[in-house]
Amino acid sequence: MKKNLSLLLAVWAAFLAACGQSDGGAGTVPLDLETGGTVSEAEEAFTKTPPKENLPLDEETAASHILVAYFSWAENAIFLEEAGEVEALASPSVVVPGNVQQLAGWVQEETGGDLFSIQVTDPYPSDWDACLERANEERGSGARPALRGDVENLDSYDTVFLGYPNWWYGVPMALLSFLEQNDLSGKEVYLFCSHGTGGLANSVEQIAEALPEAVISDNIFDCYEEEAASSEAAIRSWVNSLGDFRQKEVDSGAPAAEQRQIAVQFGGNTIVYALNEGSAADSLYGMLPLTTQVEDYSTNEKIFYPKEGLDTSNSPLAQAGAGTLAYYEPWGDVAFFYGDYRENPGLFQLGQAVSGGELIAQMSGTITIEAMESQQ
Ligand SMILES: Cc1cc2nc3c(=O)[nH]c(=O)nc-3n(C[C@H](O)[C@H](O)[C@H](O)COP(=O)(O)O)c2cc1C
Repeated sequence: MKKNLSLLLAVWAAFLAACGQSDGGAGTVPLDLETGGTVSEAEEAFTKTPPKENLPLDEETAASHILVAYFSWAENAIFLEEAGEVEALASPSVVVPGNVQQLAGWVQEETGGDLFSIQVTDPYPSDWDACLERANEERGSGARPALRGDVENLDSYDTVFLGYPNWWYGVPMALLSFLEQNDLSGKEVYLFCSHGTGGLANSVEQIAEALPEAVISDNIFDCYEEEAASSEAAIRSWVNSLGDFRQKEVDSGAPAAEQRQIAVQFGGNTIVYALNEGSAADSLYGMLPLTTQVEDYSTNEKIFYPKEGLDTSNSPLAQAGAGTLAYYEPWGDVAFFYGDYRENPGLFQLGQAVSGGELIAQMSGTITIEAMESQQ
């Protein structure tokens, strides 16, 4: 096993070396050690978009129940110093904005949550090889790098989006520092990750081990490093497929806003779906209650044809895997997925099963679909 890991590591390192790869996503400024010109381009880019400080929450976001915490190399290699001075680039490998930094920004915009950039007190080298080396030493010794700043009012968050890059087949050790210092027990945790060819590797297992009492969703967003910069639509759609985060209000003790759920009943069984806020889900909701015949399609879905087409003008694409309730516009059918499916530009997410998902494969004959009482 150990031998296999070493082999994988060597293959990955060789791949990076062969690509001359030193950084993350497309759209960032590629740096070339040979040409001073590109370095200064990066310096300029950095000056224009300095890493965000963890600023106090403003009035608009102070009431959010969602925390978007993330780690990104770009904000851990070069800092804004206390005096507001920007430290000079020590070497040309790190690029801004970081891949996870960009993803986190879109998650924040989509959820209205509070952004927290996890930053170490002792920044990593901005040189690729030197950063790899230090990260590997930290991994080997099980280090927990010291962090700057604290999350204020952690108790006011019930939902945490946690973003990170794959570092050495797992998470940066600073992410574990963060998880050990901030008790996320009982909170819903959604993971998003950007990585190289290694994918998520052991990262999810490491996080699950660090958070035994948190509710970690297995619906994880991940993207290849070169696709991070062009993943805005995909990650926004992913956030929307998870539910309507903006509707909940928990900070003031006020009851959560209404969340639309529907009950699908057949042969004494009930499957409950939470609908998203998209226009297609609105159309379906407006047709309830309805009774219809469900049919088998392929080996992963049950379908029915609503009497009218659904309005897809403002709906996320389906990509949430088994349990998805979707609308396939080209054929005009609603699909209950019990297996995985290929994403498709004509397939729109309506919602996701929240209970009884294991019964979808058994659905047959006549079904009734009803709106449920308001959910708290
Ligand atoms: C120290 C270090 C170690 C890395 N290790 C891996 C790895 O083991 N597997 C992998 O797929 N990518 C690895 N990467 C690549 C990053 O996961 C990838 O570039 C990611 O998109 C970076 O996100 P960021 O720009 O927000 O830091 C590593 C990057 C760094 C800096």
